[in-house]
Amino acid sequence: MSQRISKPRLHPDGTPWRNFYGRIRGKTLRPAQEARLSDLDPLSPGAVTYEENPQRLPLDLQARFGDRPIWLEIGFGGGEHLVHMAATHPDMAIIGAEPYVNGVAMLLRKIDLAGVSNLAVFPGDVRELFDVIPDGAIAKAFLNYPDPWHKARHHRRRFVTPDYLAPLHRVLAKGAEFRVATDIPDYVRQTLEEVPPAGFARVDHPMDQPWSDWISTRYEQKALREGRFPNYMTFIRDDA
Ligand SMILES: C[S@@+](CC[C@H](N)C(=O)[O-])C[C@H]1O[C@@H](n2cnc3c(N)ncnc32)[C@H](O)[C@@H]1O
Repeated sequence: MSQRISKPRLHPDGTPWRNFYGRIRGKTLRPAQEARLSDLDPLSPGAVTYEENPQRLPLDLQARFGDRPIWLEIGFGGGEHLVHMAATHPDMAIIGAEPYVNGVAMLLRKIDLAGVSNLAVFPGDVRELFDVIPDGAIAKAFLNYPDPWHKARHHRRRFVTPDYLAPLHRVLAKGAEFRVATDIPDYVRQTLEEVPPAGFARVDHPMDQPWSDWISTRYEQKALREGRFPNYMTFIRDDA
């Protein structure tokens, strides 16, 4: 029996459109928040989207950040960790990616309060950002409380799968750190199973001990209130 295979929808350069299963919008934003969100240019890392950068040219991160090492936070939620890291490490630059508009609005308020300028924001899917980050440009990456996707048939949507780990590995510098925090035991299992074969070595430390510069995120606080416990895992890009 012949099977019909539908052709994936492609961008003009041949790369496939990607499905995004998360939430893009929450409760209605105030007009002042909408106004602020409409001008994110000063915080942009450069031309990332297909509309702005149809040729998918690599970002000129040196022009944007100078010689600072560049870190990346994937799915920053309300932005507490992103702003905390920018304030704690003023000699670094941090790019945060987050498609949830209400989270970006929360981040903007925190940036104003903290007065930090060493960060950039991409309000979208990190995979689109990966496409235009040059090889080895990122010195550290953070994945804090990624969406759990509890049902077994949804586990392939988790970040710790090859669709995400392969481009993450490419953009990280050799020896760069990749930190993962999660409160979901099955996410720990999948992380430990899938991250090392994607070209990472695990750094051995107790999983219940956060990093010295950690700040507890909104999602971590929610997990603790609901009786779940944090797990912290560290990997380094390993090319052996
Ligand atoms: C459970 S929340 C955790 C938020 C925050 N890191 C924290 O600890 O409070 C997961 C976040 O990842 C974001 N996310 C999911 N898929 C993403 C993707 N492909 N690119 C960037 N962010 C993504 C979601 O929008 C959501 O805000």
